Order: sequence, then structure tokens, then C-alpha cells
Amino acid sequence: MFGKRSLGDTPSATPAAQPASPTPARVQAAAGAKPTPRSNAPAPSAPASRAPPPADPSESPEYRSEAYYRVKSTIFNALIETIDLTQLAQLDPESSRDEIRDIVAEIISIKNVVMSIAEQESLLDDICNDVLGYGPLEPLLARDDIADIMVNGANAVFIEVSGKISKTGIRFRDNGQLMNICQRIVSQVGRRVDESSPICDARLPDGSRVNVIAPPLAIDGPTLTIRKFKKDKLKLSNLVEFGSVSPSGAKILQIIGACRCNVLISGGTGSGKTTLLNTLTAFIDPTERVITCEDAAELQLQQPHVVRLETRPPNLEGSGQVTMRDLVKNCLRMRPERIIVGEVRGPEAFDLLQAMNTGHDGSMGTLHANTPREALSRLESMITMGGFSLPAKTIREIIVAAVDVVIQAARLRDGSRRITQITEVLGLEGDTIITQDLLTYEIQGEDQHGRIIGRHRGTGVGRPRFWERARYFGLEKELAQALDESENA
Ligand SMILES: Nc1ncnc2c1ncn2[C@@H]1O[C@H](COP(=O)(O)OP(=O)(O)OP(=O)(O)O)[C@@H](O)[C@H]1O
Ligand SMILES: [Mg+2]
Repeated sequence: MFGKRSLGDTPSATPAAQPASPTPARVQAAAGAKPTPRSNAPAPSAPASRAPPPADPSESPEYRSEAYYRVKSTIFNALIETIDLTQLAQLDPESSRDEIRDIVAEIISIKNVVMSIAEQESLLDDICNDVLGYGPLEPLLARDDIADIMVNGANAVFIEVSGKISKTGIRFRDNGQLMNICQRIVSQVGRRVDESSPICDARLPDGSRVNVIAPPLAIDGPTLTIRKFKKDKLKLSNLVEFGSVSPSGAKILQIIGACRCNVLISGGTGSGKTTLLNTLTAFIDPTERVITCEDAAELQLQQPHVVRLETRPPNLEGSGQVTMRDLVKNCLRMRPERIIVGEVRGPEAFDLLQAMNTGHDGSMGTLHANTPREALSRLESMITMGGFSLPAKTIREIIVAAVDVVIQAARLRDGSRRITQITEVLGLEGDTIITQDLLTYEIQGEDQHGRIIGRHRGTGVGRPRFWERARYFGLEKELAQALDESENA
């Protein structure tokens, strides 16, 4: 087709500029016949890392040597001069890939590059990814065991697998290529990232959450952070399997979700808050009308009656922004039965609390905090900073009346994620909010692999404050049993 036709008469594709002799040796040493990373994607994520990640990135399956990159770059440049990218863009992905394969195979033979079939395959994959997809990120995006991909400039790509962060052997040709890929990602959602607007949030077609911050703000080159979207979201039963919560703890959570308690999920970055929120929504009655508000839609509710809303950043002229507060306020006019806020981080806290206090029982939200107490005081400061001139005591009264339960999620030092506290809000004593733990996680030690050993334990509370609520929903017996079991765990 067009590529092949032009190949013959494009001087740059001939080996003239590239002496044939040194190349074979370089490639032999270089391409290293590594299997394509796609094919050896490890099993889905487990709670804690079993095998420690290789300390040396050159041991990782994605590693390619310097010489490999040199050969790839030569072939890539020849390819770019040979093909007509606009025509290529009109083909479907499969045909584009075939077209590129044919041309690359020809370039390899013209340039006398000696490669095994496996090496050629791996080079072809890499080049197709560069031209058509997200370049070196593709093999990482194809793996389902990765939670986060963090690119700090062209030569430093880190991933988080099973709670542990490790450096990969992947690198980009240069910061220019990385920037192009960032641009490609954000342009798909109609955004732009460059020196004049160097911060950008976006989403991959599969739903993964993306943040880009470019130079000059990011000093060492474009910095890309991707929270991989998990197609199969974890369920409460998975969390029990992983030891994130005990079976009786899970039962308590299930009752909290079903009997329409207002819940805050608190935790640090990447501690599993959104995952936990998603698992709790499984216990919402299918007849309820639920409205979710998120910055980037991550929740996957299974109920039939769900409205999903998403905020919008300002456009290039700085207008058109729709904030979380706008969404939550609008929600109230949509006859919701429950409102779910992906992440509470600003003045929308006030509107969510108001919603919780005005008949939208069972509303939920997550926020960043290290303990349930801290979560409540963060809520207070979000309201104060939002410009509401209410006395501190009034704000606390609103919080106490609204929030029933705070669930604390944490990522422990061994990388495992645990629910460390289920705490209920009891009331105000003077100016102080009184809380009571129902379940806590006690660390007992660690095993020989450095994994934390601990247990979830009920605190012996006989009748939590939401007991009446549980009774109203006919769940009090189950609650009593779960509390007993958790105490005797
Ligand atoms: N209990 C768990 N066991 C194992 N993996 C988990 C657990 N909870 C969450 N994860 C995984 O950890 C990653 C981060 O989870 P999640 O997005 O829920 O965190 P988060 O606290 O909402 O993060 P952020 O603060 O960035 O919004 C995801 O890949 C998720 O699948
Ligand atoms: Mg989250």
C-alpha cells in the first residue's frame, strides 16, 4: 500500500546512512529476546507483595538495553520518513498495525539488522505502540495487576503492584516523546497540555485516571500519573480474602451500607477509599435512586437506578468550570435518595452534610485523613475554609447530626491495604465530638517475609448508635451476631 510504495524511493530508508556491519552485533546484544511483557502479565493483584520486585530495573521484563534503543530509533526514524501518517490514521488499528509491520520488516531486511524472530516481534510491538498507541506505556497499561503508573520524566517509570512501588526498565526516547504521549492522552478528552497550561487531568478510554504536570512546573520533565482502572472491581468478599477486613467486620460493613447509615470513608492516598466505597454501594437496595458525584468517574454501581455526574475543569479561557459543590447542590434538585461523593475535599462538604441531614440517609463520601477523628476535623476545616461563617460549635453539631460512621482505610508499610477502624459518631459533649470504635485493627508483628500480621477486633460495643436503624431494616440480629463474632475473633 502507500507505505510500501514509498519505501523503495525514500533514500532515508536505505542503509546508506547506517553501516550494515556494526548493527547486527549491537542488536544481538541488545534486544535480549525478552518475552513481550503482555504475555507474562502476572496474576491479579493480591493483598501484599509475595515476591519482592527486582531491585535492579535491568532485571525487569520490560528492560531494553541502550543498543536496543539505538536500533529502534534508527528503524523508527526510517519508518516515519517512509509512511504517510495521515493516510495511516484513516486505517483501522488492525490494518495500521499490519501496515507498520510490513514496512518495519522491510526496513530491518534492507538495513541488514540481524534479529531473531522473537526480537523482531518485540521491536515491532514497541514501534507499533509508539506510532499508534501510548508508546512504552502500552505493556504497562495491558497489565491488570498494576494499580498505579508513575512516569517522572523520560527515564524513570515506576509502578505500584500489590501495594509496593518499584522502578521499571521502561523508558521513553526523550522528554519530547513523553510529552507527545501525554498530549495524545489528554487530547482524547478535548484537553491540552503544554507550557502555558502545564497541569491537566484526563481519563484513558478504559476509564483510568490520568494526571499530567509538565515543565516548567515539573522540573525533571513531563510527569504522568495513572491510576489504572480495574475492570473487575474488588468486592467485599475479596477484601475479606485479602485480610483487609475480618468476616465479621465485613458483615458489620454490609449492615452499615444496607441500613442507610451516612458514611465517611477516610484514608491516605491510594489506601483503598474508592474501592471500599464501591464495595459498600453493593448493599444499596436496587429500588433506591442513587446519584454519584466524582472528579473522574471511578465508581461502578450495579444498581439499576444510578445517575453519574462528573465535575469539569475550566477551559483554556478559564471559564466553564463545574465544581464538586455545583454538582452536589444540583443533586439535591434531582430527587436523590442517596448521594455519593467520590472525594470530599472542599466546600462541598457542607452541602453533603446538609444532604445527609435532610432525608438523604445512606449518603457516602471519601476524604483524605489518617484517623476517623482527623477526618471529622478535616470536614470542619473544609467548611470553615469554604467561607461559611458559622460558629465552630454549630459546624460540629451539623457534623454530628449528619455522619453516622467513619471507616478508616490504610496502606500499611508492607503494602497491604487494611480497614483499620470502624468508628461511629456518638454526639457532642461540650465542644468535643465523641466517637466510639466498633472495630479496630491490631498489629501483632510480622512474618519472615516482612508481611504484617494482625487482627481485626471488635471493641465490645453491645449496641451501636445505629442499632435502631438496623432494627428498622430488620438487621438487628445480624448486627448483634456480627458484633459478637468480631469481639471473639
Ligand atoms: N483491600 C485491598 N486489597 C488490595 N488492593 C486494594 C485494596 N483496596 C484497594 N486496592 C487497590 O489499590 C489501588 C488504589 O485503590 P483506590 O483507588 O481505592 O485508592 P484511593 O484511596 O481511592 O486512592 P486516591 O487517594 O488516589 O483516590 C487500586 O488499584 C485498588 O484496586
Ligand atoms: Mg480514590
